[in-house]
Amino acid sequence: MDDVRRYVREQYSAAARRGSCCGPDHPGLINMTRSNYDRSELEGAPAGIEARSFGCGNPVEHAGLLPGETVLDLGCGAGLDMFIASRAVGPEGRVIGLDMTGEMLVAAAENLRELKNVTLVGGFIEEIPLADESVDVVLSNCVINLSPDKSAALGEAFRVLRPGGRLCVADTVFIRPVSEDIAGSLAAWSGCIAGALQEDDYLERMKTAGFSDVEVRRMKVYAVPEALASMAFPDLSESGRREMDGALASAIIKGRRPLRDGDVI
Ligand SMILES: C[S@@+](CC[C@H](N)C(=O)[O-])C[C@H]1O[C@@H](n2cnc3c(N)ncnc32)[C@H](O)[C@@H]1O
Repeated sequence: MDDVRRYVREQYSAAARRGSCCGPDHPGLINMTRSNYDRSELEGAPAGIEARSFGCGNPVEHAGLLPGETVLDLGCGAGLDMFIASRAVGPEGRVIGLDMTGEMLVAAAENLRELKNVTLVGGFIEEIPLADESVDVVLSNCVINLSPDKSAALGEAFRVLRPGGRLCVADTVFIRPVSEDIAGSLAAWSGCIAGALQEDDYLERMKTAGFSDVEVRRMKVYAVPEALASMAFPDLSESGRREMDGALASAIIKGRRPLRDGDVI
């Protein structure tokens, strides 16, 4: 496994064990989750699932899930989006969660133990261990930015979607160019910042992977004041810390796998 994946896995293992994302020993993980969900969506959710949720948006809200659909959550973490999706697809549907971090899968298994329509799978989003054209919807929440090979992850998402299937992802994006040295901060990478793509680059990579109807919709621009950046990203240069403020946003990214001639849906 490469250094980025190893570092990211260590950080999320520790976060899963600790049950919260922020702390002096894990400086990079700034909590972007707060206020992404309505209270009604969290009704009946297991205690503690929100504290182990490290997303930057609410992909289920934008995915238009239908009863009976098969959904794959890339980098499912402790399972909050799976919990919400499980209700939306109902007993005839299925929600599959994929994550590379064992501790996260253990937390998800505990959180989702009463749900009959969920399955958890260990593995990488760049090498999804599922058959071609086997899911209706791919969801993901703040994970693709963490990948050292985002084009491979998008290509894999496309491969496992059935023709006509949808991708609906919440992710971080840069809304203006930032200097290269930001990408060198592993703390900022594992905090869902340094690995973020520029909005245009995301769109292009979606199209290259084969998606149609692609859209990158900006949701929230993050303030990262220098004082917070210097505490959270001690391995980042001073100019890198200054640049971050107002450069990063959360976005909802959507695309569709086009139908081929003769496909029946
Ligand atoms: C920021 S957390 C988000 C978790 C979850 N989606 C949520 O909203 O709470 C990132 C998650 O993605 C997983 N992850 C990161 N890179 C991955 C990769 N290349 N393949 C599989 N899982 C990955 C981590 O283990 C972690 O659980």
